[in-house]
Amino acid sequence: MKRLAIFVSGGGTNLQQIADYFAPNPEVEVACVVSNNKDAYANQRAKNLGIPLIMIDRQKFNDKAFSEELKKMNVDLIVLAGFLWLIPQHLIDAFPHKIINIHPALLPKYGGKGFYGHHVHEAVVAAHEKESGITIHYVNEKYDSGDIIFQAKVAISRNDTPDDVAAKIHVLEQMNFPVVIENLLF
Ligand code: GRF
Repeated sequence: MKRLAIFVSGGGTNLQQIADYFAPNPEVEVACVVSNNKDAYANQRAKNLGIPLIMIDRQKFNDKAFSEELKKMNVDLIVLAGFLWLIPQHLIDAFPHKIINIHPALLPKYGGKGFYGHHVHEAVVAAHEKESGITIHYVNEKYDSGDIIFQAKVAISRNDTPDDVAAKIHVLEQMNFPVVIENLLF
């Protein structure tokens, strides 16, 4: 059995897609959802899916006991899905090459502190980029800077708004994230 821990901060569309994708697969389960935001709709999605929800604050997140809690749950892969906090060293040490993130742009461009959600698409449109995309990468102690695992691109037209770009990126996320996770697990 492969067990995922999915970390969330927002709407949870990636959580939903991953959970739905693996629901028919007896070899994979979402062991828990970890959330740092009491208002995140992802929390409701976890409850609807019957997945244990672990709420964290900064103190719990930075405490080594949290890594041990995830180890005790036999988590094989930590998936950051819209999670906005930097990962502490104790988690990186406890799960070497076992923490991945999805970023809604073609890293290394449009990544790093402050580049999340709409801010990314606004910057891409402001720069008149002809394409954007998603990057799935390993997580290290810096934002959006671990080894790249997968990228997918989409064309951006001259009259695309940041919302249009966000919609195109969302499709790429939904199509690719679960498959990339599956390929990492097996
Ligand atoms: C997505 O664009 C994802 O790429 C980024 O966070 C955004 C929100 O994701 N990491 P979700 O709807 O909360 O899964």
